Amino acid sequence: MPSHEDIRHLVRNRVPGLTLEAPFYTAPEILEMDIEAIFNRHWIFAAAGPELPEPGDCVTLEVGPASILLLRGEDMQVRGFRNVCRHRGARLIEARSTTIGNIVCRYHGWSYSEDGALIHAEHMGEDFDRSCHGLIPVHVRDIAGLIFICLAEEAPEDIDEMAAAMEPYLLPHDLANCKVALQSELVEEGNWKLTLENNRECYHCETNHPQLTVPLSEFGFGFSPDELDERRSEEASAYLAAVEERHAYWQSCGLPSSEVNRLRDVTGFRAMRLPLLGAGESHTLDTRVASKKLLGRFREAALGGLSFWTQPNSWHHFMSDHVVTFSVLPLGPDRTLVRTTWLVHKDAIEGQDYKTEQLATVWTMTNQEDADLVRIGQLGVSDPAYRPGPYSPYTESMVEAFTGWYIDRMAEHLEPGSSAMAAE
Ligand code: FES
Ligand SMILES: [Fe+2]
Repeated sequence: MPSHEDIRHLVRNRVPGLTLEAPFYTAPEILEMDIEAIFNRHWIFAAAGPELPEPGDCVTLEVGPASILLLRGEDMQVRGFRNVCRHRGARLIEARSTTIGNIVCRYHGWSYSEDGALIHAEHMGEDFDRSCHGLIPVHVRDIAGLIFICLAEEAPEDIDEMAAAMEPYLLPHDLANCKVALQSELVEEGNWKLTLENNRECYHCETNHPQLTVPLSEFGFGFSPDELDERRSEEASAYLAAVEERHAYWQSCGLPSSEVNRLRDVTGFRAMRLPLLGAGESHTLDTRVASKKLLGRFREAALGGLSFWTQPNSWHHFMSDHVVTFSVLPLGPDRTLVRTTWLVHKDAIEGQDYKTEQLATVWTMTNQEDADLVRIGQLGVSDPAYRPGPYSPYTESMVEAFTGWYIDRMAEHLEPGSSAMAAE
């Protein structure tokens, strides 16, 4: 049961390049601090805009013990509030997703407008000041249709930099004019950091993801050049040359595609577009588009896959015909919710333009396979024999970028102004 001082010691003594000490994955006290230091202070991915397409549409999400409601107003803006009535605190909206007029608490009928103002509260007397009892707002930022929230009073300002860097990549896919084709919720039996670490590498892909790797080259995941024989070395060079050629082509079509790597920023992120093999159209089992209605103004299907990863809790894949978003929310030290949303053009008709099964097979299978890897990972870090082990410099640098970022942010929380504490 680590004390505050123990956690400080663990953060200070974390060795870069190695996995974390066991308590980071197992201790309830550290999960509590993760919620306080990471999830309550950083921008986290909450939902895709098309989850609440119309005025009055509302979704809720749980961040540790906190419930948040997101509501699209008549002005089409999404606003976020703590899902807590200002009378006696009742949970306002229990549904994961619903459509409402005003926000009405069913306990005693207090009503709030779409901007959170208390507009109706009976029997409170003449001296009662409604203006002091509006809903507590949370920061909301819509970046090209991806909705991020921040629960801190003062949100990290570098979200502006992420928006400026990413909008040119994301906007051509026109997420605002998509609709949700399917959403799944999977509870992984592991710590949220194992879910993220697993997401930040494809070292495990060749042997664990037969569906995911259909349109992916093994050389796209990083490799140790010294370990390749001459033939494979030539294959790797040919692949990298082909990637360069595709980047040049995409850029000439107005699609930014080269890697952006800002994973160690406070609002950390990374993006890049990679070619897909086979027909190269989409991340499906036959590498063809899953939806005939291409997104935005795309006329060509073979645009590869644009991936966008954010610290601490999301990743997204944008293709010419569909988008898949993933949000990760901790449920306990060894339980994590992965919410996956598949989106297609809003005018695409199920059965005619796309089949949900074909659209969702790759990531439904891959999520299950990843959940199983996270499960055995959690069993391992909970074993008395576990010791931190080394990340591959060739294939796991993004994992280090995640754990290093996490340790920096914990250090900043424990000793504000000294995020270099871990490197002392
Ligand atoms: S607790 Fe919401 S109206 Fe009383
Ligand atoms: Fe995986």
